[in-house]
Amino acid sequence: MAGIVLKSLVKSYGKGKPVLKGIDLEIGDREFMVLVGPSGCGKSTVLRVISGLEEVDSGEISIGGRRVNGVPPRERDVAMVFQNYALYPHMTAYDNIAFGLRVRGLPKKEIDGLVREAAGILNIEPLLEKLPKHLSGGERQRVALGRAIVRKPKAFLFDEPLSNLDAKLRVQMRAEISALHRRLRITTVYVTHDQVEAMTMGERITVIRAGEIQQIAEPLGLYQRPANRFVAEFIGSPPMNTFPARWEADGFLIAGIPIDWWQGAVPLPEGLRGKDLLLGIRPEHIEVGKEGKGLPAGIDLVEPMGGESNIYLTVEGKRAVARAGPDAPFRAGDRVVIRFPIDRAHFFDGETERRIEGA
Ligand SMILES: Nc1ncnc2c1ncn2[C@@H]1O[C@H](COP(=O)(O)OP(=O)(O)OP(=O)(O)O)[C@@H](O)[C@H]1O
Ligand SMILES: [Mg+2]
Repeated sequence: MAGIVLKSLVKSYGKGKPVLKGIDLEIGDREFMVLVGPSGCGKSTVLRVISGLEEVDSGEISIGGRRVNGVPPRERDVAMVFQNYALYPHMTAYDNIAFGLRVRGLPKKEIDGLVREAAGILNIEPLLEKLPKHLSGGERQRVALGRAIVRKPKAFLFDEPLSNLDAKLRVQMRAEISALHRRLRITTVYVTHDQVEAMTMGERITVIRAGEIQQIAEPLGLYQRPANRFVAEFIGSPPMNTFPARWEADGFLIAGIPIDWWQGAVPLPEGLRGKDLLLGIRPEHIEVGKEGKGLPAGIDLVEPMGGESNIYLTVEGKRAVARAGPDAPFRAGDRVVIRFPIDRAHFFDGETERRIEGA
């Protein structure tokens, strides 16, 4: 059992303000947990306090049921993998993978068995005698993974491990790390900036903003039911659109414009009439039309992506983006209308920006 439990973690560097402001997170045994959030929100710091590279100011960290505050990194039995691989340049791939085991004083034969087993899993047997400088980025990252695997750690901590790789290799390594997790089932905490990595690799995703957890959920749950405006706008690319909205006694307004094209009842509790709201709608749920009912909009830019196009618009002075097919007959400068079904809309409190559940 090697679940990781973080309780009320507070951490500051030096005399500065806390960069972790009370992190509560339970990562299940064998789980693949992804951490996402803007640059500087504290993702790497969470990994560093789990690994023991940094100590917390207060709060409790346990790994596999054991409290590890104050326990030195090597006794915590977790393996970190970084984006820059951190391989020793003068050692072969084999020696890089074996290094930690030698330091621990394992017998040569046992080390050899572990290195060859890891190399087999990662498909790098032919590379073992090469120096890092003679390896490609993806091969180096595999060696770095090998070094983590041979330790048979209680948990893997990944800090943006693929961000130095080109797009194609990233897709390949993404699949390999997922496969590795399915095979070894070692508890994993994986930090990334990449939306697609987060959505495809994570069994659950934790969204962090400025040292505070915003939401913990399965990928689709996060996408379909974001807990607040921040998560709504952070998850998804292009992001969810949000408009100021009000539900008056005599109808619903979006950005001040009365809506007369919705079918069905507004899915909100009556008590919200007259309150400031935010309406969220994902780009793929917006329909752009040349005429008919809808919010009047101007097209700023059409971005063809091959299989589909992103259409950037301005609605009542507010920017928005819609997604359309590859042959959408629109051009920058066109005046259009946009509309969407009411049951695709997300609603947030105008003040707290928290999600409002339907009536
Ligand atoms: N050693 C340090 N000394 C002082 N401040 C630090 C130190 N390391 C990180 N910080 C600060 O702590 C905050 C959180 O940093 P952290 O590296 O955890 O962010 P991050 O979410 O990993 O960001 P990124 O996505 O850019 O890697 C930042 O404001 C950063 O400037
Ligand atoms: Mg970081």
